[in-house]
Amino acid sequence: MTDITGQVALVTGANRGLGAAFVADLLARGAAKVYAAARKPESIDAADPRVVPIALDVTDAASVAAVAAAAGDVTLVVNNAGIAVGEQFASGDLDAIRSEFDTNFWGPVLVTRAFAPVIAANGGGAFVNMHSALSWVGVGSYSATKAALWSASNSLRVELAPQNIEVVGVHVGWVDTDMAAHTNDPKVAPEQVVTEALDALQAGEAEAIVGDFAQLVKSKLSDDVRALYPQLVAN
Ligand SMILES: NC(=O)c1ccc[n+]([C@@H]2O[C@H](COP(=O)([O-])OP(=O)(O)OC[C@H]3O[C@@H](n4cnc5c(N)ncnc54)[C@H](OP(=O)(O)O)[C@@H]3O)[C@@H](O)[C@H]2O)c1
Repeated sequence: MTDITGQVALVTGANRGLGAAFVADLLARGAAKVYAAARKPESIDAADPRVVPIALDVTDAASVAAVAAAAGDVTLVVNNAGIAVGEQFASGDLDAIRSEFDTNFWGPVLVTRAFAPVIAANGGGAFVNMHSALSWVGVGSYSATKAALWSASNSLRVELAPQNIEVVGVHVGWVDTDMAAHTNDPKVAPEQVVTEALDALQAGEAEAIVGDFAQLVKSKLSDDVRALYPQLVAN
């Protein structure tokens, strides 16, 4: 159970979308400081004096190390930065798939390896990791990156518990951000995702399953795997 009041947080991909919503909600819940990390820190809204813009590319190990060295007071990290390439595995562009893994899987792993010792030295804290409902439904390479991150989060939850560090995984379907601008399917508001994610953190829960689609997918995981793929059942 983590009280956000007085915490020093770091949010990756904080300049827009869910990252910007995380920053706003962390401030509203009384965070003492929020490092708002972005590839272009000049794009951060730093109107609140508790916001510290900081340059971070999660695919660049030197950039991650520099941020960990500069932000030694962090107790809470939100691994939010991500991209959606969504290539097909058999025929898609392999370099694009690798870059998606670099951002969505290896990025959070690098950030976690850099910040777990920082958080432990500060007495403990938490990671909030942005997974997806697609961690559990395969629709191409994006799903695999989020499945890998979900698995890593499950391992890290056990690995880091002795250091008083919690790991909260967030699963959600479409969210109304730039990433989902191409679809008219139902979308969850970013503020709802962040509210439920931080509520889960404060309640000591391991996961936040946000919205109808993520709940539906979760409910089908013990069924025959084809239950999640109506295109197969129809054949
Ligand atoms: N939107 C959805 O439907 C949805 C659903 C489930 C899960 N998610 C996940 O939620 C997270 C946030 O998504 P979003 O919807 O807010 O996406 P978004 O609006 O496209 O924003 C993505 C953010 O990630 C940053 N980013 C990308 N690559 C980066 C890198 N190498 N280093 C640092 N920052 C990087 C972007 O920075 P730039 O401005 O520099 O590009 C941007 O701030 C992602 O992990 C995403 O996979 C999204």
